[in-house]
Amino acid sequence: MAHLTLQSLVKRFGAVIAVDRVSLEVGSGELLCLLGPSGCGKTTLLRMVAGFLRPDEGAIAINGAPVTEVPPEKRPTAMVFQNYALWPHKTVANTVAFGLRVRRLPPVRIRSKVAEMLDLLGLTGLEDRYPRELSGGQQQRVALARALAVEPAILLLDEPLANLDAQLRVHMRAELRQLQRKLGTTMLYVTHDQEEALSLSDRVAVLQQGRLEQVGTPEEIYRRPATSFVAGFIGHSNLIAGTVAQCEGGRLSVRIRGGFTLEVGSADLIPVGSAVTVAIRAEDACLARQETMNVLPGTIQLSAFLGATRRLTVASPAGLLRVDCPADLGVREGSAVEIHLPIDRLHLLPGNTGPAPEDGQTL
Ligand SMILES: Nc1ncnc2c1ncn2[C@@H]1O[C@H](COP(=O)(O)OP(=O)(O)OP(=O)(O)O)[C@@H](O)[C@H]1O
Ligand SMILES: [Mg+2]
Repeated sequence: MAHLTLQSLVKRFGAVIAVDRVSLEVGSGELLCLLGPSGCGKTTLLRMVAGFLRPDEGAIAINGAPVTEVPPEKRPTAMVFQNYALWPHKTVANTVAFGLRVRRLPPVRIRSKVAEMLDLLGLTGLEDRYPRELSGGQQQRVALARALAVEPAILLLDEPLANLDAQLRVHMRAELRQLQRKLGTTMLYVTHDQEEALSLSDRVAVLQQGRLEQVGTPEEIYRRPATSFVAGFIGHSNLIAGTVAQCEGGRLSVRIRGGFTLEVGSADLIPVGSAVTVAIRAEDACLARQETMNVLPGTIQLSAFLGATRRLTVASPAGLLRVDCPADLGVREGSAVEIHLPIDRLHLLPGNTGPAPEDGQTL
């Protein structure tokens, strides 16, 4: 069991600040996902924890002891690299056995551990193959087997399932989670797949441009995004720019485009005139029935059948809004509708520099 502390870590590459004052605690036996778009600093952060990169500023501690100056092989960490980093001249069996040989385990124990790992990752029968004789997904699983075999106290995983097919990915996710619970391994798991992050993690840390935007349980991140970036990056949120027109008694009136007003619950007193963003997820918006408050007129631009639901893209005064409704709902593109944005489903976010609803929103 190991507890990891990152204190105000900074890493620069020339003019690029890859990691910008990141502080984070990962508890013993916790699985924390680092989630963020390409280039936001995820790999750089992992490489610093593993000891392959030296931070420019800040400190890393494991179980309270500083390790910033400790070389990688002396840290209780193992890393699964984004590009696998397999040795071209080592067979699958020798690759998985390597860390166990370094630790001088008895040969019988090594053989059984290698067999166990290959079985776990569906690699049995490939013991004598070299990396060039394996598919991308198989290479990825060998890299995972090599790291898991040594049962590190802290496992650092950089997109470890990215190259597996959808079915195997879901299966491996469940296997990893079980193994992590059984061994009590602390895991820092990088992904840009939000479904993976939400389904796998104890907590999720969302990174953007080297900075931590929010850290919380999957439910907190999903239900109560702290910033427009988090709301837009996770799930399918509609972000509506507006200005506070009135604020009293735990409720705000927010003026949006087209002269419409949305009523939003808020525990905070926000001065009239403040720029805000109102966020609502596609699954929380609906077609209006009898409601009169928070109803916007619109025209259906697109009606997409997604299997379990139907996603409407509706042109409204607030821009294009995505609304999920029952899959069998009979609606025609081009028809006029009224959209209801329930007050208890609206989140108020500071500022309104986030992407406008028309920009960058896809199905
Ligand atoms: N060795 C390096 N030299 C210069 N710039 C680098 C180096 N390594 C990373 N960077 C830059 O630092 C930033 C963060 O890179 P990093 O690899 O950590 O991103 P990432 O979040 O892992 O992205 P991805 O999801 O694409 O793997 C990027 O702008 C990248 O170009
Ligand atoms: Mg990366």
